[in-house]
Amino acid sequence: MSSQDIPEENLPAEQDHAHGAVGIADEENPFADPGLPPHEHRIQDIDERAAKRSERVVALLFTVSMLATIGFIVAYLAIPNDKQIFVFPIGHISAMNFALGLTLGVALFCIGAGAVHWARTLMSDAEIADDRHPIEAPADVRAKVHDDFRQGAKESALGRRKLIRNTMFGALALVPLSGAMLLGGLGPAPGTKLRHTLWAKGKRLVNMNTNQPLRPEDVAVGSLTFAKPDGLEEHSEEFQTEIAKAALMIVRLQPGNIKDKRELEWSHEGIVAYSKICTHVGCPISLYEQQTHHVLCPCHQSTFDLSDGARVIFGPAGHALPQLRIGVDSEGYLQALGDFEEPVGPAFWERG
Ligand code: FES
Repeated sequence: MSSQDIPEENLPAEQDHAHGAVGIADEENPFADPGLPPHEHRIQDIDERAAKRSERVVALLFTVSMLATIGFIVAYLAIPNDKQIFVFPIGHISAMNFALGLTLGVALFCIGAGAVHWARTLMSDAEIADDRHPIEAPADVRAKVHDDFRQGAKESALGRRKLIRNTMFGALALVPLSGAMLLGGLGPAPGTKLRHTLWAKGKRLVNMNTNQPLRPEDVAVGSLTFAKPDGLEEHSEEFQTEIAKAALMIVRLQPGNIKDKRELEWSHEGIVAYSKICTHVGCPISLYEQQTHHVLCPCHQSTFDLSDGARVIFGPAGHALPQLRIGVDSEGYLQALGDFEEPVGPAFWERG
């Protein structure tokens, strides 16, 4: 039903400003301002039952938001910090983080959705045109502001009362320190933890998909395999923290195609292992082009040449990907021959 189908006497009164001003073409402004289109009434404007329905929807959304906020508080108080749950398709995550995120998300979403529904269906939808006005204040107003400022400075006697002025500057300079002290609440400094990963001499490379230790024959030419250190279990508490530093990608190249001498020495039968964490801002790299031996970070398209020490050939990354030196153990499994020799991940960590 549109407002054209309703008898005139049943329509709510139009407000004067609803249609805006209509301009007239003249020599200076050859294009007339057509003004705003005629106002169309919504169903809620002409049918009280529809308006009541909208009101109930808005109230329901706000009520759900209240319940979600109560759920947030309960989750914060009741769920143990270390409880993990499985959520498809994310995997194992902290139960508390999940509950807090979900309830807060629902609470905020319902407030937003309720406000939007309220505005779209029940608040006045008359369009109002407001002509622009100059942003700059008139010259006399600006002159008065300058005068008032000078007068205020004179009356405060800051120039004469140096003791007050100096102590005030001291107080203003010190007060931000209380905010700086609160930074202590962010927890202990990371120390050298960011410089080291779980990789160590003798640690086997385990396939991230099959959870099995890798042998050289498992890595085919042209394939990209992701690996983690042996002993790092997906359900363990430290998994996310450690895999964020230790994730590896493994590629087999023809040894003759490896241009970088150190890369060749650190490889095993053409198998090279590089950090999977992009040196730009730390996205996981996942795209491999086997003809060119390039890997591409999907976040900002940094491209690394795996046949040449994983140097950056395109994009914003500032450093080559760190390489892990590998070999095989007595049972024929691929193993690390030490940790990375430089910090993995974003290049803003000063490299030592
Ligand atoms: S994080 Fe990889 S290019 Fe930005």
